Amino acid sequence: MTLDACLSPDLIGHHSLEGRIAVVVDILRATSCMTAGIGSGVSGIRPFENLEECLEMRREEYLIAGERNGSKMDGFDLGNSPYDYMQHHLKGRKIAVTTTNGTVAIERSRQAEEVVIGSFLNLTAVTNYLRQKKKPVLIVCAGWKGKINLEDTLFAGALAERLHPEFELECDAPRVALATYKGMKNNLLDHVMNSSHALRLQRLNISKDISYCLRVDEFDVVPVLVNGEIRPAGVSEV
Ligand code: MLT
Repeated sequence: MTLDACLSPDLIGHHSLEGRIAVVVDILRATSCMTAGIGSGVSGIRPFENLEECLEMRREEYLIAGERNGSKMDGFDLGNSPYDYMQHHLKGRKIAVTTTNGTVAIERSRQAEEVVIGSFLNLTAVTNYLRQKKKPVLIVCAGWKGKINLEDTLFAGALAERLHPEFELECDAPRVALATYKGMKNNLLDHVMNSSHALRLQRLNISKDISYCLRVDEFDVVPVLVNGEIRPAGVSEV
């Protein structure tokens, strides 16, 4: 098996998704939210790139979550904090979500054989799932508006460290990610706190999400995209 990494959704045209499992990651904070939500009993999360289409889902009794440039969208039920998604009253509910980068990365990955939602919060669960599936993997980093970001690249390096050498590293992106992770893993929070999006979130007084999104293995769950909706792996459409 092989492992490759696409460090920005704008580079996805250089990769083939056919026959691959795409692991979409947006550590700050979309895929951390999705992992925390599914891991806390949310029954389904439907990602939308388009804000208006997301809002339309209120008619289907979805709760609506939205973020742009790090801030919660006015009039939405939820923002994009993992703490929003872990609220007790969300158990059994469905959420429609649109974010600046995370839902874009998911949309760009839809041609993959399977789309898996990855975060530090479910790193081991994703690692074991990929080992069991024995398919080539492409890690798709959400980045920031087409640019590469540190935290998603660090996740790609952490996953590469766990899957290599069983998964051969393709091209150089996973090697860059792995080298970056190895150099920072002993002080991840300090490094990420100085990253561009973490500084943006701190300016918005959203610091506690940053440390939470860097916790490892808070959840033993693998959210996967099935017919446009994110559910725990193995849970069929209800
Ligand atoms: C993103 O889509 O890049 C993130 O979700 C933004 C955020 O939540 O701050």
